Amino acid sequence: MVGKNFYCQEKEADKILIYGGQPLQGKITVSGAKNAVLPIIVASLLAEGTCTIYDVPHLADVEIICDVLRELGAEIKFNSKVNTSAAVEINCQNLNNYEATYDYVKKMRASVLVMGPLLARLGKAKISMPGGCAIGTRPIDLHLKGLEALGVRISMEHGYLLAEAPVLKGARIYLDYPSVGATENILMAAALAEGTTIIENAAEEPEIVDLANFINSMGGKIIGAGTNVIKIEGVKSLGSTIHTVIPDRIEAGSYLLAGAITGGDLLLENVIIDHLKPVVAKLIEAGVEVIEESTGLRVRSNGEFKAIDIKTLPYPGFPTDMQAQFMALLTLAQGTSIITETVFENRFMHAEELRRMGADIRIEGRSAVVEGTDKLMGAQVKASDLRAGAALVIAGLVAQGETTITNTYHLDRGYDDLVGKLRSVGANIMRVKSSKTEPLKLIYQA
Ligand code: UD1
Repeated sequence: MVGKNFYCQEKEADKILIYGGQPLQGKITVSGAKNAVLPIIVASLLAEGTCTIYDVPHLADVEIICDVLRELGAEIKFNSKVNTSAAVEINCQNLNNYEATYDYVKKMRASVLVMGPLLARLGKAKISMPGGCAIGTRPIDLHLKGLEALGVRISMEHGYLLAEAPVLKGARIYLDYPSVGATENILMAAALAEGTTIIENAAEEPEIVDLANFINSMGGKIIGAGTNVIKIEGVKSLGSTIHTVIPDRIEAGSYLLAGAITGGDLLLENVIIDHLKPVVAKLIEAGVEVIEESTGLRVRSNGEFKAIDIKTLPYPGFPTDMQAQFMALLTLAQGTSIITETVFENRFMHAEELRRMGADIRIEGRSAVVEGTDKLMGAQVKASDLRAGAALVIAGLVAQGETTITNTYHLDRGYDDLVGKLRSVGANIMRVKSSKTEPLKLIYQA
């Protein structure tokens, strides 16, 4: 059962040990999407009734967002299944608070998404400013600009944003950049606004479509999600619903890369192949076999890769959340690959750690130049953020000898049972609790 405070301090010192060289073989079932479930849980704030959400992944971020909602007065119940995707029931009938405090917002930036629904339900919101973060400054100016267009007055006080709007009024909003979070925040506020809102240059990510479907299933009137123009006709109230979250395309992509780098043969079940198009295209370009099967997506490789160039872009472009994992793979390609990061600044922290494992990478402004090498070597490395951590796991799976990854709490934020899933397909990987020092030989008994 997903409980409170899973992300407590003691977990933060856990390590992941990997003994590389084992080709991954078998089947992995992909969990519900982190980036879909977080805004969907938040959107439950809009409903005067109970929202039941299926395929909720076991993630620290899910627990944090549930804690944020509880602080606002939501009643939340998880089912008691262990090691299967949970169902969660959320009732927000009796909201009694409109403040998201620093403690939560600093842990997870997506907490700022409560702003839109709180304004829609209670007419005000007080949110701690999110502050800096490991992958760039990540401002929220577009969220605020959009909300202001709906009639929200925003001020700042002691590190908090105070937002007030006795009445939300539909408006035409052009986003200077198709921000995922800003699109979601505005979408949620507009769902209960008076009149019609049009978001132009909206984000087109599948997670936006899932959020819009969720709101529509509560009685909302949103059309165009998944395109760059979304039209929202405000309704007076939203009610109970049941919804299943889409599969996590980034988790799926990460396992595709894990299968490929180890020269393995992996079948991923519970995937929406359409959502993985740019990832699959780049894998094929790198010489990896990716096959659509009736039950999912199979990846097969002989462990040899061609150098390729990658540029991250908003959907349907190549996802920034897969950039680090591809960097790990391309360290072993024949030739020079250039990876250009256009979505976030400062999202190359994994390069330094991959270099500790023998990779040849240099950073030139917003690009990383990756010269392929013959092998990676196990080393002690640190996960600087969630996807950087995934890249280190992928590298560790093929590296010679032992890799120790610290700061594993980043991985808990976004990968449901990472170690269990990888062990089930033959990886020599284990988690070492901070309180114990288990001998590495346990890995060989996996
Ligand atoms: C979401 C995802 C994250 C993913 C990212 C881009 C969630 C919980 N997280 O993050 O995993 O990497 O989309 O696909 O869904 N920006 C501004 N002003 C704003 C908002 C954003 O300048 O008001 C900038 C950001 O600094 C960043 C870029 O826009 O450089 C993209 O950010 P955004 O699309 O908003 O990403 P998130 O919603 O934070």
